[in-house]
Amino acid sequence: MSHLIAPSLLACDFGNVQAECEMLNSSDCDWYHIDVMDGVFVPNISFGIPVIKAMNKHTLKPLDVHLMIVDPDRYIKTFKDCGANILTVHYEACNHLHRTLQAIKDEGMKAGVALNPHTPVEVLESILHDVDLVCLMSVNPGFGGQSFIENTYKKVETLKSMITSRGCETKIEIDGGVTSENARALIDAGADVLVAGSFVFKSSNPIETIAALKAC
Ligand code: DX5
Ligand code: ZN
Repeated sequence: MSHLIAPSLLACDFGNVQAECEMLNSSDCDWYHIDVMDGVFVPNISFGIPVIKAMNKHTLKPLDVHLMIVDPDRYIKTFKDCGANILTVHYEACNHLHRTLQAIKDEGMKAGVALNPHTPVEVLESILHDVDLVCLMSVNPGFGGQSFIENTYKKVETLKSMITSRGCETKIEIDGGVTSENARALIDAGADVLVAGSFVFKSSNPIETIAALKAC
C-alpha cells in the first residue's frame, strides 16, 4: 500500500476553514490531521470541540485527531461525536494506556499512541498489538513550523522491525517538520503516514505540494 498524507490543519487559514477543507477534499491527501492542544500537556492552546465540529461539516476524508492534552479519557466520546475516525493520545499523558486504547476502540475509532521525541519506541513492546497507529513526534509537540529531529529515522526503523516481527498491522505516522526533503527517506525507513502542516499550507500551491508528497 502506498503511503498516506495527512495535512495538519494547525497551519491552515482559520479565517477560511471551509475553503481550506474543500481544498483538501480536492487534493490527493488521505486524512485530515487535527491537532488539539490544551496549554497544559503542551505550552500552547490550539482549538477544540466546536471548531472540529465545524471542520467536519466540510470534510470528506477521515479525521485523524491528535490529542496533546492531559487525561484524554475524559473526552473520548466527545471526539467521537465530533467526527474523529482515528484518535491518538500521548503515551506520556496516560497512566492506564491499555484502558484508554480499549475505550477509544469501544467508541468505534482507530486507536493511536503518540510518542514525544525523548520517549523510546520500546515502551510500546507490551501493547503494540493493541495499537492501530503510532505517531512518532519528530518535533517537540506544541507548535507547527519546527525543524525535523534527525533521530526520528532510527526510531522509525526500530519500531518497524518491532511491528514486523510481531506480525502487527500497526501503522507508523511521522508528525513534525516533514518536507519533500525528508519524505522519501521516512517512507524508506518504514513510515506509513506523513503529517505535514507548514510545508503544505505555507506553500504557494498546497494541492501540488500534497501531490508531490503523495508521489514521492
Ligand atoms: C505539533 C503538531 C504537528 C504540527 C506539524 O505539535 O502535532 O501536527 O502541526 O506541523 P509542521 O508540519 O509545520 O511541523
Ligand atoms: Zn499532530
